[in-house]
This record gives sequence, C-alpha cells and structure tokens, in this order.
Amino acid sequence: MAIEGKKGKQIAVLTGGGDAPGLNAVIRGIVFKAKSLGYDTLGILDGWKGLLDCDTHCSVTLDLDKVEDIHMLGGTILHTSRTNPFKVPDGPQQVIKNLKNLQCDFLIAIGGEDTLGVAEKLVREGVKVVGVPKTIDNDVNETDYCFGYNTAITRATEYIENLHTTAKSHHRILIVEVMGRHAGWMTLESGIGGGASLILLPEEPFDMDEIVRVIKAREKNGKEYAIIAVSEGAVPREGQAVLQTGEKDTFGHVRLGGIAQWLAEELEKRTGKECRHVVLGHLQRSGNPTVFDRVLGTRLGIKAVEMVDEGQFGMIAALKGTEIVPVPLAKAVGTLRTVPKNRIDEIKLFVEGRTP
Ligand code: F6P
Repeated sequence: MAIEGKKGKQIAVLTGGGDAPGLNAVIRGIVFKAKSLGYDTLGILDGWKGLLDCDTHCSVTLDLDKVEDIHMLGGTILHTSRTNPFKVPDGPQQVIKNLKNLQCDFLIAIGGEDTLGVAEKLVREGVKVVGVPKTIDNDVNETDYCFGYNTAITRATEYIENLHTTAKSHHRILIVEVMGRHAGWMTLESGIGGGASLILLPEEPFDMDEIVRVIKAREKNGKEYAIIAVSEGAVPREGQAVLQTGEKDTFGHVRLGGIAQWLAEELEKRTGKECRHVVLGHLQRSGNPTVFDRVLGTRLGIKAVEMVDEGQFGMIAALKGTEIVPVPLAKAVGTLRTVPKNRIDEIKLFVEGRTP
C-alpha cells in the first residue's frame, strides 16, 4: 500500500562495472518495494555513463510490468559500463545536474568496488545514494557474499568437473583460468567444488617446483592427469604477473589473462607431459542466475529502498549471516576482501603426496 506524501519522489537506479547474474533481481526488488512505498523508479542506462551523456536515451521508466519476472534473467536490463565520472572533467557536477534534470531525489547504485567507490565520493558531494554490492569476484568488504558470485562458481565448478573426463582420457594436465582479478574466491571454491588437483590463487604466489612435484606424485599414484585451477591474477613466486595487455581502464585496472597459457607451456617443458589450457572467461558470468543469487538480489533490492525511505544514505545493503543490514559505504570500499590464509591452508590438505 502506498504511503501518503511519497508520491512524486523518484529513485534513480543504475548498474555499473561488469555484469553479474542477479542484477535484474535487485532491480525488480527495488521497483516493487519502491512502488509499495509510493516512490517512482527511473532506470539509468549504461551505469555512470548514462548520467554523464544524458540525452533522451539515458533513462527508462521502470514500472511493475517492465520488471515482472526479470529476476530469472542474467545480465542487466539497464546495461552497464566501466565509466568513472571522476576521470571526466566536471564529471561529478554533470552527474548531479543530470539527476536533478531527471527529477531524481535519490540514487541506488548497484556495483562492485569501483561503482561503490564513485557512489561514496558522490555522497560527499551531497548526493543521496544507497549502494548495493555486486561482483562475481566476491571481493567487496563488509558483506558475506555478493550476488553473482554463487552463479559464477556454480558455472565454473561444472566446467572444472567436466574437464576430468577429457584430462583422464588423454593423460593430460589441464589448466583452467578462472576470473576474479586479485581475489581468489572463485578459483578457491570452484576448484574445491570441481575437484581440481591444485588451486593457485593471487593471494599466495605459486611455486613451480611444487606444482611439478605434485604432478609427479600423482603419476606415482597412478593418476596420469591433473586439473589445475588458476586465478587470472595468480603469479609465480619468482616472477611477475602475466598480463594480456598493459592497458588500464579508468579505474586503473589492467586487463588480466594469460597465466593458464603460460603455465601450460612451462609445465610441458618441465614435465614432458601434454598440457593444455582453458580460459573460462565471460562464460562464468553469462546466463541466468542461481536461486541463491535470485533471492539475494531480491532481498538486497528491497532493503536498499527501505534504506532510502529511512534516509540511510552513504550506506550499502549488505548480507551479514542471514540478514540484510546497512553498512557504511566508506567501510566497504578502498580495500578488497581477499582469501584469508586459513582458507588457503585448508585446500593444501587435499594436495597429492603432501606430508603433514
Ligand atoms: O570484476 C568482474 C570481472 O569479471 C573480473 O573477474 C574480470 O577480471 C573482469 O571483470 C573482466 O572484465 P571485462 O568484462 O571488462 O573484460
């Protein structure tokens, strides 16, 4: 039931950074909750880019019909970009001006570290923003899980698990490169789930001699194959990160990729065994969300609107245990939530030929 007095107030919503399954569930949660409280919702297209280049096509009115059932769909109906308004001359002022022109009183920004970092700076400029943490990398601080992550590890697990049959048939070493930038969560959990023989994470430089030892130990135990799950951001102990290009985006990120190919070539030389590499890449965040991400996204969207309604700006809606709670944006951004040492030690238990 609509609450009197809220009519005419409008909430803008945008999705920024890489898409993640569950984004549409958040949007649907926002629109339904907003409607129930008497707010209108305006979707901003293409993330922060939409609020910079705001012509007649930068926004779309979101009503209940438009978002019906979209929680089951991957991607984002609002589209996205990796635009940083703070790297554009007068960017923040343009964002503020355009929000005003669009008659938006509030903004819900759905995104990862970069998008939320922009949101946090805009709060300091007086914009009434609530954030919703999103990333398949699961590396945003102050939330137990980001939506999108569960779908991505479910996909990656299935691919890693399936690789066993071909690796075994050919007596090969298969190296699977998993996304996640500088946080190894996806590689860790899909590696465990998919039965990888070795899991290499950005949080701990890997030792080539140890990998060769494990392959040999497996051979001795009659296992003439191995599956190695490696994070795109993992680095060898003695070397540098393997990058696809040196180019940086407007948030200062280099494009990662190439470590699996490098490892396959190195290991073939060192072991004499046939090695192949597979890059999971964007397959991990493609397709429709898991039930977990549909539900988490929905709950986050609802909470974000409640926070707008209660005037809790400069905060994100975060998952803590089983509850969705408000957490200051400033605590969520600035550093990444990476895999702690105890989780890395757990996986070492299962490495072939390892003596306690
Ligand atoms: O941050 C999510 C992510 O999927 C990372 O895991 C990956 O490194 C990056 O985005 C890929 O970015 P893009 O889709 O721009 O190539």
